[in-house]
Amino acid sequence: MNFSQTPQEKLFLEMIRAFAEKEVKPLAAEIDEQERFPLETVKKMAEIGLMGIPFPTQYGGAGGTNQIYSMCVEELSRVCATTGVVVSAHTSLCCAPIFEHGTEEQKMKYLPKLCSGEWIGAFGLTEPNAGTDASAQQTTAVEEGDHYVLNGNKIFITNAEYAHVYIIFAMTDKSQGVKGITAFIVEKDFPGFSVGKKELKMGIRGSATCELIMENCIVPKENLLGKVGGGFKIAMKTLDGGRIGIASQALGIAQGAMDETVKYTKERKQFGRSLAKFQNTQFQLADLEAKINCSRLLVRKASWKKDEKLPYTVDAAMAKLFCAETAMEMTTKAVQFHGGYGYTREYPVERMMRDAKITEIYEGTSEVQRLVISSNLLK
Ligand code: CAA
Repeated sequence: MNFSQTPQEKLFLEMIRAFAEKEVKPLAAEIDEQERFPLETVKKMAEIGLMGIPFPTQYGGAGGTNQIYSMCVEELSRVCATTGVVVSAHTSLCCAPIFEHGTEEQKMKYLPKLCSGEWIGAFGLTEPNAGTDASAQQTTAVEEGDHYVLNGNKIFITNAEYAHVYIIFAMTDKSQGVKGITAFIVEKDFPGFSVGKKELKMGIRGSATCELIMENCIVPKENLLGKVGGGFKIAMKTLDGGRIGIASQALGIAQGAMDETVKYTKERKQFGRSLAKFQNTQFQLADLEAKINCSRLLVRKASWKKDEKLPYTVDAAMAKLFCAETAMEMTTKAVQFHGGYGYTREYPVERMMRDAKITEIYEGTSEVQRLVISSNLLK
């Protein structure tokens, strides 16, 4: 495994960290409070090439690695988890399946607009009755002449309200079970497509999570992604990559909470000395620091394997599971270290704790990650 970075990559990462501090951190509390999608930040991220990091320059990407992309999501999430997931859902769940399964025409049509940030991407798999059991898709796609007609609803779709392109999964042949699911590239202006109710959430409140509604939605045949009946595998492979993105987001949240806690425990004095001088603080922080470093190694390994085109399904599941649980533990303890102040919005740790929770749920719950890991172990 090679974790070293080229001088160019080092500079890129320094630039991302400076950008996160200067442009993302100051807005984090405001977009959370107002449940506002950070469109102005997306525009700025697009200008500096953050909306298509791991894709070749011929498609408008930055030509970077998945490791660098993962570090970018980590750095953004360290200061604002909403901004981290906007980039992760766009890149891993929309650009990546088009890049990995699209025809040359589809890649040339969609990737330059997505990678430049002119368009934002989203992914529509989850339905009211198909959450963890993603195979229970009820959205249908019926072939009619030169197009398909889609009917159904998707829920909990990250970026939904501001996206221009959606990867949508629908049943083309119910009798075939999971082999009857097909993927489509759907544009927001296709007839019969609309964005529905916006969810009011506990955390990542700026990320515009909505329902998608398809009522006799007309999708041209050239927008079929991959093969008819190949949609479930595309969904699973896409989620393997997405889980690296969410693991990176969780790692960033944990690191952000650690940074805040180190600062606070050095400053806050009780019983005549700083909290950092108490062995209880030192031992707890040492354990958490070790877990954050384990998280980082798991994410780096999974992204390195993706870069090397090695199988990484289980690595991504382990990274997501461990990073998400570490983020939850770190942020909960960060609030505890901050005491009463930690429970107020004066300090960012309460937001971080609310943001951390979703990393144990979306793109496969922690239980799904345990299923993926154990089924490989016991096969
Ligand atoms: N890569 C390639 N193929 C895969 C695969 C993978 N990672 N995982 C499964 N498959 C294939 C299997 O090989 C099998 O194909 P064959 O029959 O040809 O062998 C087929 O898919 C079915 O596999 P399973 O029998 O294992 O499928 P299952 O129905 O038992 O489901 C599951 C397994 C792990 C529970 C899966 O359904 C799953 O991951 N569920 C969670 C879904 C999820 O993460 N949803 C989040 C949606 S996105 C989101 O959160 C919103 C957002 O906007 C961010």
